[in-house]
Amino acid sequence: MINIVAICGSLRKDSYNKKLLEAIKHESNDQWDVTFVEIDELPLFNEDLEIGGDPEEVSDFKKKLKDADGILIVTPEYNSGIPGGLKNALDWASRPVRSSFFLNLPVALAGATPGSLGTALSQMQLRQILVAMNANVLSAPKVLVGEVHKKIDLETRQVTDHRTLSHLKSFINAFTEFVEMYRKD
Ligand code: FNR
Repeated sequence: MINIVAICGSLRKDSYNKKLLEAIKHESNDQWDVTFVEIDELPLFNEDLEIGGDPEEVSDFKKKLKDADGILIVTPEYNSGIPGGLKNALDWASRPVRSSFFLNLPVALAGATPGSLGTALSQMQLRQILVAMNANVLSAPKVLVGEVHKKIDLETRQVTDHRTLSHLKSFINAFTEFVEMYRKD
């Protein structure tokens, strides 16, 4: 069993991306122990705040990342990029640079949108940010769920599209192998 810390870039209650994250957790339950970490209580990153030591919300957030063997980020695309709240969380997590939790950490990305491009542009930007943080980002398979409203049951709010579910299985297996490659123990 590997410890996966999951972050969702959408803060809204009925988020499609939260549903996708739940589906990944469900499909991975024999391989991953998934812990969700919320990012909506984090203050806006400010170096002046950091000088006085991490605010409580930030040190709680960092503590939750500490035991991760790998990180899963599931995020929507906002204006062809990642949501501001997610960038804020990553900026906090990237500090201090030399002991950032993301240093050499395996990271996998996934995203869903009612649009047709499946968050391709936001994942491209997210990949660039994570590379700057010296994280190890899984290249493939990519999880880009377009037209997500047709792939989720609106009543149960579960992913029902069989092709998507089977793709998630391949993604989970690939990330498991990727994490095992970097695992320290
Ligand atoms: C969006 N949306 C969107 N979708 C997309 O595919 N590309 C984009 O660039 C954008 N831009 C964008 C900007 C802003 C500010 C909002 C609020 C929305 C639509 C977006 O994919 C849709 O609202 C999703 O449902 C958001 O994800 P969650 O909250 O359902 O997980």
